Amino acid sequence: MADNEVDAGISAIRSAALSFTGDPFAATAETCMTYLSDAILVMAAGRIRQFGPADEILPTLGPEVTVELYPDSLILPGFIDSHVHYPQIQIIGAGGETLIDWLDKYTFIAEQAYDDPDHAQQAAHRFFDELLRNGTTTAAVFCTVRPGSVDAFFAEAQKRAMRMIGGKVLMDRHAPAALTDTAQRGYDESKALIERWHGRDRLHYAITPRFAASSTPEQLKAAGALWREYPTTYVQSHLAETQAENEWVAALYPDRAGYFDVYDHFGLIGERSLYGHGIYLSEAEWQRIAESGTAIAHCPTSNMFLGSGLFNIGAAKNPDRPVRVGLATDLGAGTSFSMLRTMAAAYNVARLGGQALSAVQAFYLATRGAAEALMLDDKIGSLAPGMDADLIVLDLKSTPLIAYRMQFTDTLEEALFVQMTLGDDRAIRATYIAGDVAYERAR
Ligand code: GUN
Ligand code: ZN
Repeated sequence: MADNEVDAGISAIRSAALSFTGDPFAATAETCMTYLSDAILVMAAGRIRQFGPADEILPTLGPEVTVELYPDSLILPGFIDSHVHYPQIQIIGAGGETLIDWLDKYTFIAEQAYDDPDHAQQAAHRFFDELLRNGTTTAAVFCTVRPGSVDAFFAEAQKRAMRMIGGKVLMDRHAPAALTDTAQRGYDESKALIERWHGRDRLHYAITPRFAASSTPEQLKAAGALWREYPTTYVQSHLAETQAENEWVAALYPDRAGYFDVYDHFGLIGERSLYGHGIYLSEAEWQRIAESGTAIAHCPTSNMFLGSGLFNIGAAKNPDRPVRVGLATDLGAGTSFSMLRTMAAAYNVARLGGQALSAVQAFYLATRGAAEALMLDDKIGSLAPGMDADLIVLDLKSTPLIAYRMQFTDTLEEALFVQMTLGDDRAIRATYIAGDVAYERAR
């Protein structure tokens, strides 16, 4: 191959950059992150080829490589949303209810519309547009109970060359008949979807029982059996989101020691299992979550919107038995696609619970922390040679107020704090997927 062919797909960007190498809940911030005030990041064949200080990288680049300069910006790994419902994009901001009433009144109505493939395709298209506009490059996504909603989701992800996790909701009770399956049908349809999508390009399947209250024991048993047949797939569900839900699950599963024990009993916990919320958990449950390698998706805007409660980040990240935690929107109960807004909400939830959450920790939860929760930290969530070139360019002066406020920041932590407290979709200057610009904000 001629040299010019080898280098044909190379592109490079230059700006300040930040990435994590470790967990800032377990170590000091300085020891677990790389901050470069003037970095160059080189991309080729969908991956990061080089990343380092500009004065080191620049002399190594051939004359054919143009370097795109982003002033007043920060290159970050793409944000990762570790729990989100794409069919609920049409009911975001439907308020006034607690979880179970919100599901009955809005969610279970909206999700029935996904029997129509055109509707599913259009919603998926809009969903991915919004992810990219907000700098989210990977997400763990709930579809509806109907396989067509999953096909629409993965087809759109594949078209955009994105690394995505998703699955068909399993639900065989406590929902309208038009939105339920059976243990056998749920198993068969999920299996067919795994065969169709899992491992294709950058797509991953998640076996997705909605939550213990909407699946019979037979369905959870079948889900566990399916996971054992396809151990490289994921499991995703909900856990201990509200007190009323905890009480309901306790009544439905009287033989189990607690909510998490229901999933444990049916073989649905461990690495590559992701549970949204985890607000009402005992210390014994936290210990089991930690030792099993199960991950929790922290969904702060959703928890505030539904009034579900305050997630205990200190309990989750207890250094004696740390749990993998990813940040998540949980849209449509969550109120924003923006992981910056979600970080700000996580900070507010921590404060209301009498806890601290640094900006460094919040950015970690939305990038490398979430990648660790998804067991994908060898591919996404950090800036380093060999990683997928999924990244964003954050505009550090995206509004007049932020531009003004940034003049009065002295440290990186302060600057990150301002970005997470005041920033939103306008802060995303560009989103790169597999080395290509997938979204660029209008100049
Ligand atoms: N628990 C069961 N289903 C759902 C859902 O769709 N959203 C939220 N927030 N919690 C749930
Ligand atoms: Zn959810």
